[in-house]
Formats: sequence, structure tokens, C-alpha cells
Amino acid sequence: MIRVSCFFVFLLSICYGDDYGFPDPYPEVYESIDTLPTNLHGWNLPSALEPLIEEGDIKTIVEVGAWTGKSTIFLANILPEGGTIFAVDHWLGSSEHRDPGNRTEYNLVPILFKQFISNVIHAGFQDKIIPVRLASVEAAKKFKELKIKPDVIYIDAAHDYNSVLSDISAWYPLLRKEGLFCGDDWNLGGPEGEVAKAVTAFASTHRLRVCHEGEFWWYEKLAWYETDRK
Ligand SMILES: C[S@@+](CC[C@H](N)C(=O)[O-])C[C@H]1O[C@@H](n2cnc3c(N)ncnc32)[C@H](O)[C@@H]1O
Repeated sequence: MIRVSCFFVFLLSICYGDDYGFPDPYPEVYESIDTLPTNLHGWNLPSALEPLIEEGDIKTIVEVGAWTGKSTIFLANILPEGGTIFAVDHWLGSSEHRDPGNRTEYNLVPILFKQFISNVIHAGFQDKIIPVRLASVEAAKKFKELKIKPDVIYIDAAHDYNSVLSDISAWYPLLRKEGLFCGDDWNLGGPEGEVAKAVTAFASTHRLRVCHEGEFWWYEKLAWYETDRK
């Protein structure tokens, strides 16, 4: 898996050069930064996710929306040895983080990527966490080209209806056949909130059942889906 990961980052660095933000292939990315002190500002991962990662046969996780890496590092802690987490983020913050009224988030945005890398280094997970510094949909295209089929895809990027729907639409087809597709913020804005609406809209056109517990949501395939798809 490490070889696949190296190849992935190497390819991204060729495709994107300096624009990708990682002119050097992994693991040099972690060596080229003057680290900041640890600051794990972030949100808690849904507790329902924990047993699914620990007990499943999970090798590859994609987290879409990583912020400072608090949730990414939590995932790295519970992912069995040899597993890889691709942290996909443009590290520009979402619209709510760029609102000066949200002082803590607003102040983090200019140093967000450096803070993420620093946090991963301090946690010692450079071998397990691969940062993919791209917009979500662009990253999904690269994963498709590279034929990487994640076991788990966790969506936690922008929270408006259109962004959630385009993130789900871009990433869902990449999931391993029996994989777990899930995300955060089910209750954001209440049951009529934009996350819940987008999650439900995608499910209704793709023969999926939406399940949720607290903020955590995930899809289950309807029983007849697989036979129907062949
Ligand atoms: C809510 S934060 C992620 C929180 C993190 N998962 C945690 O639990 O601590 C959302 C992140 O998504 C990123 N983001 C928003 N829209 C994005 C997009 N279209 N592509 C890539 N990243 C995006 C932002 O930069 C931000 O870091």
C-alpha cells in the first residue's frame, strides 16, 4: 500500500508541479516544512465510525475535508497498521471559516495547511496520512484515473447543498464494492438542512438507503441494487 501511495503522490506531483503544492514526492513533503506547535482545532469524529474502522477490513480511507487534521489523526489512531488515509482538502477553508465573525477558524485559514502538516508530524503519522491538496472534485478525478478504490470515503468538506451533492457524486462511484460511504453534519441546519437534503437527494437517485445516527450519516445499498446493476 505504501508503494501505491508513493506512486499516487509522485503522479500528482508530476501532474500538478508547484500548483499541487507538493513539488516533491512523498515523504519529502513532511520534511520541507518548519513545523508549528500542535493545534488540533477541529470537530469530533462521529463515535459510530470508530467500531466500523476498527472491526472492518479497512486499508484505504479517504477523508474529504481535513482542516487541521484532528479527525484525520483520530482515524490514523484507529486504522490498523499498514492502512492509508488520504486527506483531501484544498486547505483554503470553507465559506464559514472565512467569515471574520468566526475568529478562531478565520485566523487559522492562512496557516491551515502548515498546521495540518505540523499536526501530522507531531502525531507521528507521516507514513499513514497522505495529504492531497486539491479541490474535492479534482481529487476524485485523479483517484479515478489511478483506479484507487477506497474502503471508506468520509465526506466533511463544504456544507451547502450543491457542494455536498457534487462531493458525493464525484466520490461515490470510486468506493470499493462493499465499502462504507459516510459523512458528518447530518443535523446541520436541522432535518431540513442542506447536508441532509443533499445526502437524501443522491440516495433517491442511486437506490441507496440513508442511515444516520447523531451527526453521522452513511449509505446502505438496497437489497436488489447489486443484481439490478449487472
Ligand atoms: C468542516 S472542515 C473539516 C473538519 C474535519 N473533518 C474535522 O472533523 O476536524 C471542512 C474542510 O473542508 C475543506 N473544503 C471545503 N470545501 C472544499 C472543497 N471543495 N475541496 C476540498 N476541500 C474543501 C476546507 O478547507 C476545510 O478544511
